[in-house]
Amino acid sequence: MTTGVPMSSTAITDAPAPWLRDNCPCGDCRDPRTGQKLFQITDLPAGLAPGAVREVPGDGGPAWEVVWEPDGHRSRYPAAWLDAHSPGGPRGSGGDGRTEADKELWTAADLTGRLPGASWDAYTGDRAVRIRALESVRRLGFVLLRGVPCRDRMVLDVAQTFGFVRRTNYGELFEVRVEAGPNNLAFTGAAIGPHTDNPYRDPVPTVQMLHCLRNEALGGDSGLVDGFHAAALLREEDPRAFGVLTRVPVEFSFTDTRTELRAQRPLIDVDPLGRIREIRYNNRSFGTLHGSAPVLEEFYAAYRRFGELLLRPELRLDFRLAPGDCLVFDNTRLLHARTAFAESGGRHLQGAYADLDGLGSALAVLRREGAAA
Ligand code: OGA
Ligand code: ZN
Ligand code: ZN
Repeated sequence: MTTGVPMSSTAITDAPAPWLRDNCPCGDCRDPRTGQKLFQITDLPAGLAPGAVREVPGDGGPAWEVVWEPDGHRSRYPAAWLDAHSPGGPRGSGGDGRTEADKELWTAADLTGRLPGASWDAYTGDRAVRIRALESVRRLGFVLLRGVPCRDRMVLDVAQTFGFVRRTNYGELFEVRVEAGPNNLAFTGAAIGPHTDNPYRDPVPTVQMLHCLRNEALGGDSGLVDGFHAAALLREEDPRAFGVLTRVPVEFSFTDTRTELRAQRPLIDVDPLGRIREIRYNNRSFGTLHGSAPVLEEFYAAYRRFGELLLRPELRLDFRLAPGDCLVFDNTRLLHARTAFAESGGRHLQGAYADLDGLGSALAVLRREGAAA
């Protein structure tokens, strides 16, 4: 650009002064060891304005120095930082990585025959493979790790490769197999329609793992549905129903002899800009909805519509878990399902929960190490 005025200088004069000053990187404003901010917003003088502004050489390229009025504080902003972060710049009001804005929505045809996957050996031995696998959880909502040793509690080792196990009332891990006195239909041979897990928990576990140890039963095939895609379709086809599902809080609950959990959230959660961010959908734990008759009528029509959409065959990716497969997926986006199976056959999965923030952190650190290598 040859406007005569370097972009960064206008970036300084055009930027809201409190915003710019809040981002001062100097050692008085941020602790040099931790990078953490040392002042409160209330510590900044009122009526801040950039006084003298000049270009200066910085460590990693040109920088802009501002002497602030009224307190004479001196800030230096790298030009590259200004270019990346200035108001109205490339970041816009970028997503946090969790909303539809940062996802690749899919239908079954997009992934049939090419499930995002990695072998356990490559995943544990090769940083680039691990980065791709974790990226796939963020972008597509899942990855299928294959050849994960069929050992008891191995699912916990999988979780530890990218984060922290979220222990729940089911334990550190849960056994998905036919139980004599089940406290959940998952622990029978019944078919389970597309659902997200634990919507009765607040906060909900955002990552789920299912590690297949045995799958010899007749039936017991797996299915995944991209809930963000389904919600986006609902918004397209019936915007009113979509709106209802983002606004009506639903009470989900889980009760057994030792537990009584409840949480109230809408089926479709959107971020402050209206972008789809979380799906909760689980008929097994859906409680009694309260509200006026018209609200209940409208909710149930919308709920049914969304339910029908989630059952469209073209949205459901079908596959069968083999021993050694470990599915790692975003429990706030994907719905998982299984077909019924003969209770006499051998089918055993071990499941566990973890969280997406830890996964995002692991991915960022792997990328940082990759860039430094
Ligand atoms: C579960 C579940 C699916 C399966 O345990 O949460 O949905 O394949 N299991 O058994
Ligand atoms: Zn400062
Ligand atoms: Zn489940």
